[in-house]
Formats: sequence, C-alpha cells, structure tokens
Amino acid sequence: MRSLNRPITAWAGQRVWLVGASSGIGAALAQELLEAGATVALSARRADLLQNVAAGHARAIVAPFDILDQKAWGKRYLDICQQAGGVDLIVFCAAAYQPERSWDVTSDGAAHTLAVNLGSVYTGLATVLPAMLARGSGGIAIVASVAGYVGLPNASVYGPSKAALINLAELLYSDLHPRGLDVYLINPGFVQTPLTAQNTFAMPALQTPQAAAKAIRRGLASGQFEIHFPKRFTLLVKLLRWLPYRWRFAFITHFLLPQ
Ligand SMILES: NC(=O)c1ccc[n+]([C@@H]2O[C@H](COP(=O)([O-])OP(=O)(O)OC[C@H]3O[C@@H](n4cnc5c(N)ncnc54)[C@H](OP(=O)(O)O)[C@@H]3O)[C@@H](O)[C@H]2O)c1
Repeated sequence: MRSLNRPITAWAGQRVWLVGASSGIGAALAQELLEAGATVALSARRADLLQNVAAGHARAIVAPFDILDQKAWGKRYLDICQQAGGVDLIVFCAAAYQPERSWDVTSDGAAHTLAVNLGSVYTGLATVLPAMLARGSGGIAIVASVAGYVGLPNASVYGPSKAALINLAELLYSDLHPRGLDVYLINPGFVQTPLTAQNTFAMPALQTPQAAAKAIRRGLASGQFEIHFPKRFTLLVKLLRWLPYRWRFAFITHFLLPQ
C-alpha cells in the first residue's frame, strides 16, 4: 500500500525548522537529523541550549525566539530562508505542560498552555504555508501526544491542547496533501525529558529522547501519517479510546487515579 506521505529517507539537502529544539525530544531530534545530513534551524527561547545542540554541526542554524511573539515568527523565518534558502519541513515540537487536576487550573495558566501548544502552531502555519503552497511541496510535522487520545487526569489543559493538535493535523492532511504537501502527526508515549520530570505518577514504557528521535526518524522514513511510539504503550491507549465510556471511565478511576 502506498504511504500517505512522501517518505523522507535522504536527509542531505533537507532544510528543517525545528521549533522547540532546546531540550528533550526536540534537541535529540535535531541531533539525529543533523547527523543524518539535514540543515536544521533550531528554535526555542534559550539560545545557550540551542548553541549546545548546534555545537560541532556546520549545518545547524541557531534561531532563538519566543513562539508567543507573533512578529518574531516572520523575522526568524526570513533569517532562516536567507541562510538556508527555504524550509522543506517544519517540526512543531514546543510545548508547555503543567500536571494539574481540573480544580487547580487557573484561567491564565490555561491560556498560556493553549497559546504555546496550539496558538503558536497556527502562527507558524501562517508563516510557512504561503511559500510551501506556492511551490507545491513541503512538510508539516506536528508533535501531539497520546494524552490527546483520551481525557486523562492531570493533563487538564495539556491533554485538550494535544487533542486539538491531532484534529488539526488530520484536517491539514485533507487540505494540504492534494496541494502537494505532507503532514505528519507525531504521538509519543512517555519520554524522559524536563517536561515529564514534573510527573509524580508512574510512567509506563518510558523512553529516552534519543530513542524517541530515532522512532520519529523511522516514521518519517516510512511516510506514515501518524508516527506513534512505543507501540506497546500507544496501542493500549488507543484501545482505551475505543472502549465504551462506562468501561473507559472505570479503567481510569481504578488504575490512573489515587485510591
Ligand atoms: N516527554 C514526553 O513524555 C512527551 C510525550 C508526548 C508528547 N510530548 C511532546 O513532545 C514535545 C517535546 O516535549 P519534551 O518532552 O521534549 O519537553 P521539553 O524538553 O520541555 O521541551 C519543550 C520545548 O518547548 C520549547 N518552548 C516552550 N515554550 C516556548 C516558547 N514560548 N517559545 C519557544 N519555545 C518554547 C522549550 O524551549 P525553551 O524553554 O528554551 O523556550 C523546549 O525546547 C512537546 O510537544 C510535548 O508535548 C512529550
């Protein structure tokens, strides 16, 4: 069966803009793609960490900015295009996360998480899509999460933001693939990063950022629409999604909530 997207197997000459590249999965994926031969523009707020990721890689472009600053998107895009000649693939990997039960959510906190995780993706799309549509090629990769599959306690704002990203990636595929663009939805399970270091609950099938980066590269190489890993965990959460609500809620109450 033909893959849903163009498989990316050769990275030499690929110009990637990795947004959220200063730590965790983004930093590991940046290293992975730089080592594979891609030119990678590294964005996040902490320029010193981006410099560390770029160290020793001639094809790394350090492009720090705050993704909540709408004007900065355009400026950074122009800088990157001047240095690299364009962007073939953008990876939306930045996120904010706060483990919290629903009664702990504040309006400001929710607005911030939604702006970082979801709003910034719309700004990024408005920045890169005109040129990609004009040339009829390009790739959009959105890092969502298995937390977007089902409503899980503790992910009170993060979970809904990731569910929205899954929905967005699906509609983008229908919209953009007929126009020559590729859309990849990346749904990791638990990965050991500063983001999950805040969790006090058990994280089954926890992976290293390097293993996650390799799984993403393999997924891009096979041209899958949805790249999810590790399968031994993500398939279980998918199964939970298909259970009747009565059974699903019973499972969550018995196994995922403190007794
Ligand atoms: N770790 C997991 O178990 C897991 C599971 C499923 C999905 N994910 C997803 O994987 C992606 C990477 O997460 P991670 O676990 O690697 O977390 P992480 O290490 O905390 O990385 C988050 C990245 O987002 C950037 N970022 C946050 N706010 C930003 C802002 N306002 N402007 C620019 N950059 C900003 C951070 O950079 P600065 O702070 O330097 O700005 C950092 O590079 C996220 O989309 C996350 O939701 C993670």
